[in-house]
Amino acid sequence: MASTPGTADSSHALAAAAERRWAIIVGIIIAALVAMMVFTGLQWAAMPPSRVETIDPRTLHISGEFVESNLGTSVGADGKVIVRLVAQQYSFQPQCIVVPAETPVTFRGTATDVVHGFVVGRTNANVMLIPGFVATFTTTFHKTGEELMPCHEYCGTGHEAMWARVQVIPANEFLGKARQGERMSCVSR
Ligand code: CUA
Repeated sequence: MASTPGTADSSHALAAAAERRWAIIVGIIIAALVAMMVFTGLQWAAMPPSRVETIDPRTLHISGEFVESNLGTSVGADGKVIVRLVAQQYSFQPQCIVVPAETPVTFRGTATDVVHGFVVGRTNANVMLIPGFVATFTTTFHKTGEELMPCHEYCGTGHEAMWARVQVIPANEFLGKARQGERMSCVSR
């Protein structure tokens, strides 16, 4: 049964009004998203979100901070504990890292080939290592013992076999072993 012409007209007008309302709402949402993209794009281009330190991955093994003899844990003249490491397919260098417990430890690391990363056991020591950039962070280990340090960025067919170990030892034992300027690791020689 056909509806009366009046009813059809008013429901058509109702539908057109609803469509217009939704078109305006969707238009506002799209305009807001585009404005956010433009704002964050310009903002981040003007001021990058974090400190950026670059390094040439082709020459870092030849000279500078990340040569082999400078990798591992060291205690600076100011008493600061620094761990330097390099990641490459499919290992970390050094393979075993020794750090003191209850002491701030600064990690400085980079990658030579592709993007790697690591996490130390269940601690908050967790970082990405990107070729061309030096990643750094400072953390304190509270629990002594050995932690596994797997690579956690897929870096190729050997990814799942890429890991190192971290030995957390009491701070006094660590300082007893540490000698000024010497690099420490727990890699068996
Ligand atoms: Cu290195 Cu995954």
